[in-house]
Amino acid sequence: MNQRFDTILKSGTVVNQDGEGIRDIGISNGRIAAIGGLGQASAGETIDCKGLHILPGVMDTQVHFREPGLTHKEDLETGSRSAVMGGVTAVFEMPNTNPLTVTEETFTAKIKAGHHRMHCDFAFFIGGTRENVNHLPELERAPGCAGVKVFIGSSTGALLVEDDESLRRIFQVIRRRAAFHAEDEYRLNDRKPIRVEGDPRSHPIWRDETAALMATQRLVNLARETGKRIHVLHISTKEEIEYLRDHKDVASCEATPHHLTMAAPECYERLGTLAQMNPPVRSADHREGIWRGIEQGIVDVLGSDHAPHTLEEKAKPYPASPSGMTGVQTLVPLMLDHVNAGRLSLARFVDLTSAGPARLFNIACKGRIAAGYDADFTIVDLKRSETITNKWVASRAGWTPYDGVRVTGWPVGTFVRGKRVMWQGEVATPSTGEPVRFLETLKA
Ligand code: DOR
Repeated sequence: MNQRFDTILKSGTVVNQDGEGIRDIGISNGRIAAIGGLGQASAGETIDCKGLHILPGVMDTQVHFREPGLTHKEDLETGSRSAVMGGVTAVFEMPNTNPLTVTEETFTAKIKAGHHRMHCDFAFFIGGTRENVNHLPELERAPGCAGVKVFIGSSTGALLVEDDESLRRIFQVIRRRAAFHAEDEYRLNDRKPIRVEGDPRSHPIWRDETAALMATQRLVNLARETGKRIHVLHISTKEEIEYLRDHKDVASCEATPHHLTMAAPECYERLGTLAQMNPPVRSADHREGIWRGIEQGIVDVLGSDHAPHTLEEKAKPYPASPSGMTGVQTLVPLMLDHVNAGRLSLARFVDLTSAGPARLFNIACKGRIAAGYDADFTIVDLKRSETITNKWVASRAGWTPYDGVRVTGWPVGTFVRGKRVMWQGEVATPSTGEPVRFLETLKA
C-alpha cells in the first residue's frame, strides 16, 4: 500500500536519537508520521533537503519579547519573527513586562495575544513575587506556562525577590522546576559605587562573580531544604559550573551564546554598552569554564536571553544604559559556527536545544525527531557562510552585537507542527504559533 503524507522532507541528513543519517520524513496533520526511506510514498508537497541537516526544532527557553508595555523594543509578533528567521521553533518568554506577568489575568492575556500571532510556538513564565505566592500553585499549572521565574537580583523591570525568607515561601508552595536569575541583590547594592560613569568595562566588576556564585549557592541550599528543583539561568562564571557539578540532582542550568562567544574587557572596548548584559559577560577564563560545563555535560540547555532595547536607549551613558542585547535570531548560526570550529558536536547542540529543554521542562511531543511527535524542525546548511548584519535582524530593536561577524552554518528552514514558517529567509503568513504543551499542564 502506498503511503500518503501532507509533506515529505526528502533526503536530508536527519540528526536524532539514532545518530545522524540520510532519511526522508513524512508529515501528516502537523505530526511526524514516518521516518526512513519513503521513496514509494506520495505527498501534497515534497521538499528536497539534500545536503541539508534536519535537526529537532530548536527551543530557546529564555527570551524577553516585551509585550505588553514595552512594545517600542519588541512585541510577540516581531520577537517570534526574529526567532523563526533564526531557525527557532519555540520560545519560553519572560514575565518582566509592564504590567508584570504575575496574575492569571496578565498571563491569560499573553496567551491570547500570542495565539496565531506568534510565528513559533510559545510558553510564558509566571513571575514569582511576595504578593502572588499563594496563587503560584494554580498559576504554574496553567496551560502554556513554562513554570515560575524569580529574579533574586534586580535587572530590567520591577521583579525582585531577594531575601531567603520570601524565596523559601515560593519554594515551599510550587511543584514544578522554577527558573532563577541568580545574582545576590545585597552584594549588588553594596558594590554600586564601583560603577564608573561612562565605562561599561566596570559592569562585570560591579556585578562580580561572587554575586553570581553566592546567589546560586543560596538557591541550591533552598532547593535541598524544601525538596524542589531549580533551573539557574545564564551561568556566567566558572565557579558556578564547578559548584553545580556537585548539585545536578536539584539544579539544572543554562548557558547563553554571548557568554560562550564574547569576553571582557574586549567586548566592552569594541561594543560599549551594546555588550552590557545581566549577568555580565566576563573574562576569557570564565568563558572557558562555561565551555568546560558544555563539554562535561553540566550545562543542560542553551538560551539566548534575547533582551532587546533600542539603540537610543543603549546609547545612554553607562550605567544609565539598560542591560540586554538581542539574541534569539543569532543563537543557531553562532552555535553552528562553534560546531564548524570544532568546539561543539552537532549531537551536543541538539541535546542542548531540543532534548535538554524537553527533559527539564517535561514538554509533550517536542524535542525529538520521532513518530508521533510535533513536526518541528530546524533545517540548516552547515557549509553555508554568511555575514550576520543588523539588516537581517527582524527584532524591532533592529540590531545585534554580532553585526559584521562572519559565520559558517546557517538556518535555512523552520518548521512548526508541519508548517514551513521560514524558508530561505522568507517568513510565511498567516502565523500559527500555539502554546507549548507540558506534561504537568495537559489537563486544563
Ligand atoms: O541583561 C538582561 N536584560 N538581563 C536580564 O536578566 C533581563 C534582561 C532584560 O529584560 O532586559
